[in-house]
Amino acid sequence: MKLVVLGAGGRLGAALIREFRAKYEVVGFNHAQLDLSNLESVREELSATTFDVLVNAAAFTNVDACETERDRAFRINAEAPGVLAEICNEKDAKLIHFSTDYVFDGQKRAPYTEDDQANPISAYGESKLAGERNVLAAGDEHLVVRVSWVFGPDRPSFVDAMIKRAQQDEKIDAISDKFSTPTYTHDIANMLPQFFDHGVAGGVLHFANAGKCTWQEYAQWALDCCRDAGISLKGATVGALKLSEMTGVRQGSGGHAPWIARRPVYSVLSTAKYAQLTGASPRTWREAVADYITRSYSKK
Ligand SMILES: NC(=O)c1ccc[n+]([C@@H]2O[C@H](COP(=O)([O-])OP(=O)(O)OC[C@H]3O[C@@H](n4cnc5c(N)ncnc54)[C@H](OP(=O)(O)O)[C@@H]3O)[C@@H](O)[C@H]2O)c1
Repeated sequence: MKLVVLGAGGRLGAALIREFRAKYEVVGFNHAQLDLSNLESVREELSATTFDVLVNAAAFTNVDACETERDRAFRINAEAPGVLAEICNEKDAKLIHFSTDYVFDGQKRAPYTEDDQANPISAYGESKLAGERNVLAAGDEHLVVRVSWVFGPDRPSFVDAMIKRAQQDEKIDAISDKFSTPTYTHDIANMLPQFFDHGVAGGVLHFANAGKCTWQEYAQWALDCCRDAGISLKGATVGALKLSEMTGVRQGSGGHAPWIARRPVYSVLSTAKYAQLTGASPRTWREAVADYITRSYSKK
């Protein structure tokens, strides 16, 4: 089995390559090696490469920048995935394309299933949904995997920013009325190989760790895990911020750049279809975060 992974320099792509290398022949392309906004070079480069499965973890993921660079967002997140699917068709290969909980508007108050109507409220979400549709229009054996609140060791995310803030400051706060599920790149890497075979589950599939939380609960749990692991922090308790108080402020980086794009208030993904297809259930987000902190922070 030969795999090609795009987005090799990103949080998810780097993790997939690291975890797959032991079992498969894997070639990774980072942004500098393959620019998805240059479709001609994408065709040229990938046509000259042999593979059975193409995993696309590359995307224009800056949700706010997508609002102001709409054309670029659609080229990378929508048009390019369609071209990738066509290239896979020519090679009789399978495309596994990553998408997002941000295709939903967040109005629901129960986990979103694959059958729920997508209704994005941001340019990022719109471009990602268009990408999903382009991939599936090219062939229904291709797989679109929607994930939420991805974290892992290869690129800092919200949880790392919160830990860093707690190492520097006593006062930390995070949004307490926005819900989804943190999902560990290590767990995504474990679930994916079941879907490498051509005959297995094309279409849309949700994958996330189990349970749901707010950013405040997520950050608090991370700090609790750090405390249990003996990692010294100045801040121990995460205060609550309302989403409405955060208008015009971006949460997560510890910085306060303007928040341009709208985000869904509730975007928990149901993994019932995953459980039904595989007979396995993802572990809880609390277990996954605890594991991440043990692996990535305890030894620092
Ligand atoms: N992070 C999350 O919380 C989250 C949530 C839901 C869904 N997802 C989805 O999960 C997938 C992986 O995201 P991630 O968390 O790994 O994000 P990430 O760390 O931002 O990785 C995305 C990668 O894509 C690369 N990229 C950007 N523009 C490109 C282009 N024109 N050509 C080639 N590569 C390009 C980036 O390179 P540069 O950094 O050099 O630009 C980066 O390495 C994406 O499909 C994303 O939409 C992520």
